[in-house]
Amino acid sequence: MIKNPTPRIIAFLTATILTCVVSVISLIFQSKWLEVSISSALTFAISYLLTLYALEFFIYRKIKLIYKSIHQLKTKKSDPLLPPLFGIIEDPISEVTKDVLKWAEDQTVEIEQLKKNEEFRKEFLGNVSHELKTPIFNIQGYIHTLLEGAMDDPDINIHFLTKAAKSTDRIAALVEDLESISQLESGYLTMEMETFDIHDLTKDIFDSLEFMAREKQIEFGFKAGADAPFIVEADKSRIRQVLVNLISNSIKYGNTGGRTLLGLYDMDENILIEVSDNGIGIEAEHIPRLFERFFRVDRSRSRSGGGTGLGLAIVKHIIEAHNQTINVRSSPGIGTTFGFTLKKA
Ligand SMILES: Nc1ncnc2c1ncn2[C@@H]1O[C@H](COP(=O)(O)OP(=O)(O)O)[C@@H](O)[C@H]1O
Ligand SMILES: [Mg+2]
Repeated sequence: MIKNPTPRIIAFLTATILTCVVSVISLIFQSKWLEVSISSALTFAISYLLTLYALEFFIYRKIKLIYKSIHQLKTKKSDPLLPPLFGIIEDPISEVTKDVLKWAEDQTVEIEQLKKNEEFRKEFLGNVSHELKTPIFNIQGYIHTLLEGAMDDPDINIHFLTKAAKSTDRIAALVEDLESISQLESGYLTMEMETFDIHDLTKDIFDSLEFMAREKQIEFGFKAGADAPFIVEADKSRIRQVLVNLISNSIKYGNTGGRTLLGLYDMDENILIEVSDNGIGIEAEHIPRLFERFFRVDRSRSRSGGGTGLGLAIVKHIIEAHNQTINVRSSPGIGTTFGFTLKKA
C-alpha cells in the first residue's frame, strides 16, 4: 500500500482499476481494438477526473471547513489562515493532521489551566465560608442565649455582648480583606502613584500601632541609617496597607518585650524596605506558602490576634502591582524579616 496517498494518486489508481475492468468487459463483447482503446481511454480520463473532483470537492472541502473552524478557534493571529490544499502542498491531509494535533495539544494545556482555576475557586469559596461560619455561629449562640434569659443576668450579659461584638469585628475585618483581594485580583485597579517619604509614612504607622505594640511591650525603631527621609514613587495608601500588615504581623507574632525595626536601603534604582522582628519566626517548610490566601502557620494564634490569613496575600498583590518584589527571611525562635522594594523617586 502507498503511504499517505495524495488525491491525484488515489484518482489515478481508481481510474486504472476501472479502465482495466472496462477494457476486459469490452474485449469480451467487442473485438475491434480501436473501439476498445477509445472506450478505455475515455473511461480512464472520465474516472480520473470524477474521482479527483469527488475527493477535492466533497472530502477535502469538508476537511477544509473543519480546519478553518479550528483556525478560527485558535487565537494566534500570526498563523497562516490555511495552507494551500492542492498543488503546492503534496500531502494536505497530513499537514492538517499535524495542525489538528497541535491544536488539540494546546487545548489540553488550556483545559488543564481552567481546571486548576476551578479548583482554586472552589478552595477559595470553601475557605471563605469556613472563615465566616465560626464568628456567625458565635454571634448566633450569644444572641439566642441572651434572648433566652441571660439578658437579665448582669454577670454574663455584658460578657456575651462583648464576645458577640468581637465576632462582628472579625467578620468586618474578613469582608474588608476580601474586598481588597478581589479589587486587586480584578486587575482593573490602577495604582495611584505619588512621591512621598517612606520614612515619614512609617513613623505615622508606628504612631497608629503604638497601642497594639504597648500591649505586648514591643518597641518600634529604625535601623542604622534608616532614620532619614527616603523618597519613593508609589501608591501611598496601598503602601500604608502593606506596612500596617507587616508591622502588625511583627507585633502579633512577636515575643512580649520584643522589638520591631524598620530598615531602609538605597539600592540604585529602588529603595529596599525591611520590617524585622525578633519574634517566633517561621519554619522553612512554611515559607513557600506564606503568601497564599488563608495560609497560617498557627490558625488559633492568628485568629486570636484578629488575623484573617489574607494579610500577606494582599501585601504581595500590592507589591506586584507596583512591579516590585517581596521576600522573607526567617529563623524559628530568632525572628523574621520581610523585605520589599519600591521605585526611588
Ligand atoms: N512576622 C511574622 N513572624 C512569624 N510568623 C509570621 C509573621 N508574619 C506572618 N507570619 C505567619 O504567616 C501567616 C500569614 O500571615 P497573614 O497573611 O498576615 O495572615 P494573619 O496574620 O491574618 O494570620 C500568619 O498566620 C503567621 O503564621
Ligand atoms: Mg496578618
